[in-house]
Amino acid sequence: MPQKIIFDTDPGIDDALALLLLAKSPEIELLGITVTHGNTSQEKCLRNALSLVELAGIEGIDVVRGATEPLVKELSVAEETHGDGGLGYAKLPTASKKANEKPAHDFIIEMVEKHPDEVTILAVGPMTNVALALLKRPEIGKKVRSIISMGGAIHYPGNATPQAEYNVFCDPEAFDIVLRSGIDFTLVPLDVTYKCIFTKKHLEQINAARPEIKNFIADSTRFYMEFHVKHQSIEGCAINDPLAAALLLDSTLVKLEDYFVRVDLMGPTSKAKTIADYYGALNQKVNAHVAMQVDVERFMELFVERMNRFQ
Ligand code: BDR
Ligand code: CA
Repeated sequence: MPQKIIFDTDPGIDDALALLLLAKSPEIELLGITVTHGNTSQEKCLRNALSLVELAGIEGIDVVRGATEPLVKELSVAEETHGDGGLGYAKLPTASKKANEKPAHDFIIEMVEKHPDEVTILAVGPMTNVALALLKRPEIGKKVRSIISMGGAIHYPGNATPQAEYNVFCDPEAFDIVLRSGIDFTLVPLDVTYKCIFTKKHLEQINAARPEIKNFIADSTRFYMEFHVKHQSIEGCAINDPLAAALLLDSTLVKLEDYFVRVDLMGPTSKAKTIADYYGALNQKVNAHVAMQVDVERFMELFVERMNRFQ
């Protein structure tokens, strides 16, 4: 039976690629897409999610309006990384599909109660929607099957501050609430996602996909690649969110290590850093499976192969 998934996202270029990957993955059943603020405003992320669903030909699912701002800190956006509209140089037509206006956290509660122990939340943006669901109805924590989260940086430097990864940086308090919830939690940090660099070579390999898909991937990643080379001296772009999505299809793509993980909420310079108790010094119960190694070749092959299914 396909795994039931809620995709919580802030599209965003790599979020868009993750959505395309999910669209061509019969291993999963997408229950809905909950949209948060993050790479750009929630309004633009929602618009992008609706257009992407139509581009990918996904039918019969809800795209749900989520949180417009973090729990505590002020709103951040990353338009220098993802472009003014959030999808780089790609311009998608406005979708005819309309959003489900129910708040995303209520949608999450409803789905988890409808399918107890069956729902995995794939969270690839700031954690606000999931935290709001847990704050409103803490008991759903026991009924969520698992969370896979693209977020954090264990040994790798941060990409939002010297120590903080962007999704955690955007809403550290929300991330902290979800990490402490007791839900089975898999963390996919920059340590592994920054090994997964999508280059022009991979783009050329996506040669069987229909033109709208090829053009979308080319136009969106061109902007992302320009950012990576200018700010991080990386040729290509890190496809963070698709790696987290790919674990639903093949969990052997990464090697997981179990740690007690905390979010620094104090700072001043380390605020939003994810800290793993590497040597067990704090003597605390493990709360996360952390992806620390990745089979880059196999992941890239899987990603390219799934994109080529868009015919
Ligand atoms: C994460 O932050 C966002 O900019 C990306 O979409 C990804 O989810 C990487 O730090
Ligand atoms: Ca994202």
